Amino acid sequence: MNTSNYNRSFKESDSEFLSKHYKLFDEIFSDPFEGFLDADIVEQLKDNFSFSTKELLVQILPAAEHFVRAPISNFRVGSLVYADSGNVYFGANIELENCPLHTTIHSEQSAIINAMLHKERKLTALATTVTPCGHCRQFINELNTADDIRIILCNGDETNLDDFLPNRFGPKNLGNNKMLMDKYYQELEIDFVPSLLESEALEQAKLSYSPYTYTFSGAAIKLKNGEIFQGTYIENAAFNPSVNPMNAAIVNCVMSGKDIKDITEAVLIEDEEAPNSQIEFSRIIINSFSDVKLQVKNAVKVD
Ligand code: THU
Ligand code: ZN
Repeated sequence: MNTSNYNRSFKESDSEFLSKHYKLFDEIFSDPFEGFLDADIVEQLKDNFSFSTKELLVQILPAAEHFVRAPISNFRVGSLVYADSGNVYFGANIELENCPLHTTIHSEQSAIINAMLHKERKLTALATTVTPCGHCRQFINELNTADDIRIILCNGDETNLDDFLPNRFGPKNLGNNKMLMDKYYQELEIDFVPSLLESEALEQAKLSYSPYTYTFSGAAIKLKNGEIFQGTYIENAAFNPSVNPMNAAIVNCVMSGKDIKDITEAVLIEDEEAPNSQIEFSRIIINSFSDVKLQVKNAVKVD
């Protein structure tokens, strides 16, 4: 069974460009779509249509809105990030009904999380269908490319973060010299033989970006078709825009066009001394849309 969320044809898209070329885009986004366009396809599209990178981003931006999950607001926001690998990652706002509103992942955040989960190291542009809100500006400010990233709006206006967020408060104010998407890796040990789902969650715990609390926490979920989606823990200098690892796994799932309600298993692996445990919050998130029992396992830091 095809569990894809993504069952709309671009034939009906509000975008003139996408509806005109719907056959091409229906094919590109057909299952399995993994939340991004790889550099080869990006270059082919630029060649085919004689587009600059910016023109391509603006033209395909409406496609990101197809992934929106907004049962509360019904407000659709689509985003893209362009990585220095040449890949383009999709983002959409993701709301969870029966959950505090602050579990919402904004579209811009979801594109950045998506790129991060695919091990990107540098983002050079972010395109979005709305002017990024304050929360997103703060989240973008954590990036190692915050000073240079181009922010592109759907009308083609292009600017940098300083224009949106002057006098920025960020990682350096807390004495953190590394930034989001820099290489972080904390070795962790476990005393059990991990299942595939557990090894994925463990790897995400090791990749946590937690320079403020040193909490290492990773999540993995499995859907009924056997697909696995992973998520890592991401902190922010202003604390509130931080992202729980289960929330990040949900981003990964939704941006691949899948339905989170198809979840059959959820695992969280965390450093047993985690000062800022993500366990209870992950449980709340999972149980807001399913009755799957969160499996929790401990790991131990290796110095
Ligand atoms: N939203 C975004 O995704 N990005 C923004 O910068 C503005 C707001 C989303 C969050 C929520 O799902 C909905 O729009 C209403 O605020
Ligand atoms: Zn926002």
